[in-house]
Amino acid sequence: MSAHKQLTIGLFGFGVVGEGLYKVLQQTPSLKASIKKVCIKNPNKKREAPDSLFTTDRYEILNDPEINLVVEVINESTPAFEIVSTALKNGKDAVSASKKMLAEHLPQLLELQKQTGKSLLYEASACASIPVIRNLEEYYDNDLLHSVKGIVNGSTNYILTKMFEEKLDFKQALLQAQQLGFAEADPTLDVDGWDAVNKWVILLLHAYGIVASVDEVLFNGIQNIQGGDAAVGREKNLEIRLVGQAKKLQNGKVATFVLPQFVKKDDHLSFVKNEYNGFVVESSFADKQFFYGKGAGSFPTASAVLSDISALRYHYQYEYKKLYHHQPAQLTNDFYLKVYVSFDDWKYIPREKFEWIEEWHAEDDRKYLVGVLHAKELIENNWWKQHNLSLILKPDAIIEDIEIRNLKKKSLELAGIA
Ligand code: HSE
Repeated sequence: MSAHKQLTIGLFGFGVVGEGLYKVLQQTPSLKASIKKVCIKNPNKKREAPDSLFTTDRYEILNDPEINLVVEVINESTPAFEIVSTALKNGKDAVSASKKMLAEHLPQLLELQKQTGKSLLYEASACASIPVIRNLEEYYDNDLLHSVKGIVNGSTNYILTKMFEEKLDFKQALLQAQQLGFAEADPTLDVDGWDAVNKWVILLLHAYGIVASVDEVLFNGIQNIQGGDAAVGREKNLEIRLVGQAKKLQNGKVATFVLPQFVKKDDHLSFVKNEYNGFVVESSFADKQFFYGKGAGSFPTASAVLSDISALRYHYQYEYKKLYHHQPAQLTNDFYLKVYVSFDDWKYIPREKFEWIEEWHAEDDRKYLVGVLHAKELIENNWWKQHNLSLILKPDAIIEDIEIRNLKKKSLELAGIA
């Protein structure tokens, strides 16, 4: 058995997560991991830790041979990548919570881990306190995973809960999410779906061995959702969530998106409120499994970083089994989605792009339709992202290519057209 490693940590960032980690480590002396230095940007900010702990020179950490672990929890992705890649090259293990940086640099980071043999762990980067990456990595075989879906952004989930259950307006709800330390420094990253899609790219790698970039994933945030949409859902017993899904189609390829979706009351994800995240795995024999926990905030995020630190004492590394030891799955845009769209003028709706429109109605100034679109149309064009239009997936939105002809015929018959 390999020996426990004594960890001497150089920490980058002392914001919501960094300070949380500092406090959490003080409460877990048994871990035998101590922070030697903390690199920060602004030395004049008041911090609850001795001044001697801090530096503004990143090389005080990166070139210190005594420091064998770099923990990076800063906001900006370019310096985060420089820090993590230099740490690995300098023979140190690294732990990161920077989802944007990870999603933007996966191929380089995979290569660097191979070259250096050092470990890079990032459990906190997706679903914060829920150990979803390590579970996908260690427990689930790519071939047996039918689908993974989840709520992976705490701030947007918090905003949706506050707006539609407590009737707060959008601005107030966002302000609360910022004050509670859930939102990104630039909250449009949360609201417009960037944070969720960054996390989704990381999860695709560990679920299916897919190395994708954000432009390959169909996504949007909650910026265009209106009170009227929630009211339409309520009439049908549906709630709105920002949902990521990756589903293996019958041809073996993987369909994926991160989009607002109506979820049924008996869907596990409808149970997920406020800053909580949820993750549902569907596999061949276990059927459905549901992971649930806090997806944002200081201590929940620090707890995942702590777990990575603890795993490094035992020399844990991601093996990227789905990528290196299995046949990695491939993404496809060749599938269809059943969507609900609300809008204020038909002129914004390119009707010819719909495979079919199943129903529509108008109420006061707003119009609503339910129809089917090809995913390729949505990923290649942006008409559906304009601000006066809100596109929300119906539950069970994915329709496979092979189902489409039958469904189309049936829907035209119902509409009395065929
Ligand atoms: N802004 C992120 C969220 C923080 O709201 O989920 C956790 O990654």
